[in-house]
Amino acid sequence: MYRSHTCGELRAENIGATVTVAGWVQTIRDKGNILWVDLRDRYGIVQIVGETGVVSDEVMEQLKGMGREFVIQVEGEVIERYQKNPEMETGDIEIKATAVTLLNASITPPFTIEDETDGGEEIRMKYRYLDLRRNPVQEKLKLRHKVSLETRKYLDTVDFMEVETPYLIKSTPEGARDFVVPSRMNPGQFYALPQSPQTFKQLLMVSGYDRYYQIVKCFRDEDLRADRQPEFTQIDCEMAFVEQEDVLNTFEGLIKHLFKTCRNHEFDGDFPRMTYAEAMERYGSDKPDIRFGMEFVNLNSVAQGKGFGVFDNAELVVAINAKGCANYSRKQLDALVNWVKRPQIGALGMIYCKCNEDGTFKSSVDKFFDQDALAEWATAAGAEKGDLILVLSGETNKVRSQMNELRLHMGTELGLRDPNAFAPLWVLDFPLLEWDEESERYHAMHHPFTSPKKEDFDLIDTEPGKVRANAYDLAMNGVELGGGSIRIHNKELQARMFELLGFSDEEAKAQFGFLMNAFEYGAPPHGGLAFGFDRLVATMGGSDSIRDYIAFPKNNSGRDVMIDSPAPLGTEQYEELYLESTAKEETAE
Ligand code: AMO
Repeated sequence: MYRSHTCGELRAENIGATVTVAGWVQTIRDKGNILWVDLRDRYGIVQIVGETGVVSDEVMEQLKGMGREFVIQVEGEVIERYQKNPEMETGDIEIKATAVTLLNASITPPFTIEDETDGGEEIRMKYRYLDLRRNPVQEKLKLRHKVSLETRKYLDTVDFMEVETPYLIKSTPEGARDFVVPSRMNPGQFYALPQSPQTFKQLLMVSGYDRYYQIVKCFRDEDLRADRQPEFTQIDCEMAFVEQEDVLNTFEGLIKHLFKTCRNHEFDGDFPRMTYAEAMERYGSDKPDIRFGMEFVNLNSVAQGKGFGVFDNAELVVAINAKGCANYSRKQLDALVNWVKRPQIGALGMIYCKCNEDGTFKSSVDKFFDQDALAEWATAAGAEKGDLILVLSGETNKVRSQMNELRLHMGTELGLRDPNAFAPLWVLDFPLLEWDEESERYHAMHHPFTSPKKEDFDLIDTEPGKVRANAYDLAMNGVELGGGSIRIHNKELQARMFELLGFSDEEAKAQFGFLMNAFEYGAPPHGGLAFGFDRLVATMGGSDSIRDYIAFPKNNSGRDVMIDSPAPLGTEQYEELYLESTAKEETAE
């Protein structure tokens, strides 16, 4: 038996007991005659004490020989601490060592394994197995574990069944690029890794498994960001014999259960809902952060026609009111202007108007707008003395997206985005299609199996861009936590949808023949959704970055710097897989 207790569990009531603990040496404080070792395992830290004359010379010598991250086993007596540490759960006691065994030595770790480490991101990722020893990282993975456990519990109680679907499949149309896997047994042919189990879960509905879920890995070859990984996890769900309302209610229930059991957080009442069109108009985003207001105000009627060309030629002049920011200095305002002009945001400029405490206005376009005109802006924006109005203008979609960024930036700057506040929002009625300038055709906004709204059927032939879908997202704190739709379960409508998306009959058959065929054998009405599990856990943990909540994540270039992947293949592997690389000079021998 390596241990009788873990390092985190001993308390005052254990005083007098003889115990054995095992773990990693966190720190050693050696004062000559007396020394203390902090011993760590997954459950906590316990203090070991050795004192000349109190413990044997042999034990004293062994303790003195220990280094950081050595793995040791200590037997001893639990005694009351002279100086208690209320910060530590085991802070009332310490273990007077009677025997010490070195289980394994460690070379000096490349960074300190403490809550506040001296290691930068790159080095911590390279030695992720050491980073994972740190308490804050363990707490994140514990939360992840708990959320997955509670997801399974909840879905089980409402009759969902977990069914695994394959990873080696054919391309799924979720909009990103596929990762592909060459098939040795089928020369020149490739599997694709699933971007999601979308088509399989629909087939399961045809098979009669009317409540399916899976906590499942998905793979997408897309540009990475803080909330995107090339392989990520979904809580993927599908239900038969349901309408949109059933799906929303079921999964609102899941999210409430998860927050209650894993965060001890209860939401007041039902999650608010908003249409996509309204979200875009009020926040310029399909995943608005509604922890704070600062909503968009359309200034077209008060800002146009005054001779200021930039506004007059714009499709949309839109403002936000930064409350209490009229005291921004010239330097701060210039910094904001430069911020919106960065290529990532892409605005050509920004106009501001200070609502001074004395009732006057000071704008960056005083030449065109007199005090009365600026007062109209203030009324429209609901701005009072001491507020700052920020204005952007241009083509509607572009300017909305820029203003969304500026609003989030101001929200962060003004401390309005409390990581411990949770603001869910169902966004409904997404457009069915979006026009892609590059390929000059429509793409499915969600995916090609999403059903159009009945009341918009007539528009399919006349104005396809205006057709709304039975598609929904759950946003929280400015993050898209999940999304889904009611599906098309009728073969003719599905064929029409493929046609709209520019697939020929043959292409549709080649890609989705199996699904279309299945729909001929009695497909029930069905719909579902998938939550981004990493995003859900990170949001629950109060973080924007999903990487911290993944045991072995990839960096922004899609690399795992610990195992050094991706890596070239050996020549033999190329031959075996019938591959030739145009970058062959880089391949390993
Ligand atoms: P969608 O493509 O919207 O829908 O994905 C569902 C959710 O998965 C998360 N997500 C990601 N998380 C981390 N890294 C990524 N690269 C990434 N991409 C997506 C998001 C997103 O909301 N099959 C449909 C669902 C359905 O219709 O039922 C689908 O995959 O949180």
